[in-house]
Amino acid sequence: MDFTGLKEKTLVIIKPDGIQRGLVGTITQRFEHKGLKLVGMKMMRLGEKILKEHYAHIADKPFFPGVAHFMQSTPVILMCWEGLDVVNTVRKITGITKAREAEAGSIRGDFAMSVACNVIHASDSVETAKTEVARFFSEEDICDYDKTEYMHVYIDEERE
Ligand code: PPS
Repeated sequence: MDFTGLKEKTLVIIKPDGIQRGLVGTITQRFEHKGLKLVGMKMMRLGEKILKEHYAHIADKPFFPGVAHFMQSTPVILMCWEGLDVVNTVRKITGITKAREAEAGSIRGDFAMSVACNVIHASDSVETAKTEVARFFSEEDICDYDKTEYMHVYIDEERE
C-alpha cells in the first residue's frame, strides 16, 4: 500500500463506547469535514488473536485484561483515512489517551472521560499506521478513487 504524500493512510477504530453511545456518525463527520478521504471501512468483532497483536505493546500491563474485555464487549468499526500528514492530523483530532484531560475540541476531549473508554483508537506514527492498516485491511479492501473536493482542500503544490 502507498503511504506517501496524499496517499498517507492511518487506522481509526471506533471503540465499543463510541458504538454504544451513538457517536459513529459524529466521529466520521469530524474526519470528513476536516477534508480527509475515507478509503476503507468495516465492522467486526475483535478476536483474541488480533486483539493481542494490536495491543502487544500493553500486553504486560496490569490494565490489559480490562482493555481486552472492553474492546470485545461489542463489535468495533475500523476505518482507514487518507490525506497529507494524515497520521498526525488524526492524532490531533483524536486528543490524548486520558480523555478527561484531552483538549476541548478533540474527539476524546469532547466525548469521553476515561483512559480506556476513549471513543477511538488512532495510529501513533506512519510506521505503526502501515502495520495497523495492513492488520485489518487487505489491499483489496482499500478503495482508490478520486475525491472531487480535493481541488478545494489542497492547493496544486500539495496535490503533486
Ligand atoms: S501506553 O501505556 O503508553 O502504551 O499508553 P497508550 O499508548 O496511550 O495506550 C495504549 C492503549 O491502552 C489504553 N490504556 C489504558 N487502559 C486502561 N488503563 C490505563 N491506565 C490505560 N492506559 C492506556 C489506551 O486506551 C490505549 O488504547 P488505544 O486503543 O491505543 O487508544
